Amino acid sequence: MKEFFVIGNKTSKSLSPLIFNHWFKKYKIDAKYKFVEVKKGGFEKALNKKIKNKKVYGFNVTVPYKKKINKYLDIKNNHAENIGAVNCVSVGKKLKGTNTDWVGYLNSIKKEKIRKNKKILILGYGGASQAIFYGLVLKGYKKIIVFNRSKKLIKLKGAAKYTKPYALADKHLSGADLIINTTPTNPLNKKQTRLVNKKALISDIVYTPKETNFLQSFSNNKKVYGFTMLVEQAIPCFRQWFGFNPKVDRELLNKINNKIT
Ligand code: ATR
Repeated sequence: MKEFFVIGNKTSKSLSPLIFNHWFKKYKIDAKYKFVEVKKGGFEKALNKKIKNKKVYGFNVTVPYKKKINKYLDIKNNHAENIGAVNCVSVGKKLKGTNTDWVGYLNSIKKEKIRKNKKILILGYGGASQAIFYGLVLKGYKKIIVFNRSKKLIKLKGAAKYTKPYALADKHLSGADLIINTTPTNPLNKKQTRLVNKKALISDIVYTPKETNFLQSFSNNKKVYGFTMLVEQAIPCFRQWFGFNPKVDRELLNKINNKIT
């Protein structure tokens, strides 16, 4: 039986085992997906032990190790290189890392058909946010503004700019077409929330609870829930390991829904 896992510091709460084990069962793949929870300082030891195990074929990396994994990899694809973070690894003679967060986010909003001239606000600039920003720029979105509580440098294609403080969000909120929260909290105050247009699409990448505080503060807007990105980033990772795209069926969505609501 092949083994897969997700490594991070809070993986017991991760939905990745549920998603991948569902697909293993659906496609009759003789494999098991587990979680490996590693506290500070224990990453290297846990990782080495796992990759020496001949049964291990691949794994996911999550918070806070998506950057730390870089130095253990033999190869990375261009996207992972550009983003500087890896969330999906294949284990063979070599360790190959990719990043599927960026495409996972793009696919989570695909059916909304957001035009390239639309204004997008990203709240927060951590690891996941950097992948989302990269994906949106790659896809051709031109009007993206990133806010963060601490000032961070955004580097892209040789150009560099800084994130903006939330206090400067006011003048952008009414004209925003898509607002993406990538923080574990709601970084907008009540006054700012009221400035947002009712037609704006509201998105949060946190998937539990389904209705995060941020999403709850917008009762009249269309929403993109965090679990959609989670499922969408798992699809290309599964393809990397098994060579085909798994289907997101009703049973999987029900299983996820039961866990997050
Ligand atoms: P991930 O890799 O999942 O994106 P992360 O790297 O820890 O996680 O990033 C979390 C993001 O949430 C960061 O943008 C962080 O802001 P800082 O860069 O200033 O640390 C943001 N964040 C975390 N707690 C927050 C809070 N209480 N208020 C506002 N932003 C917060």
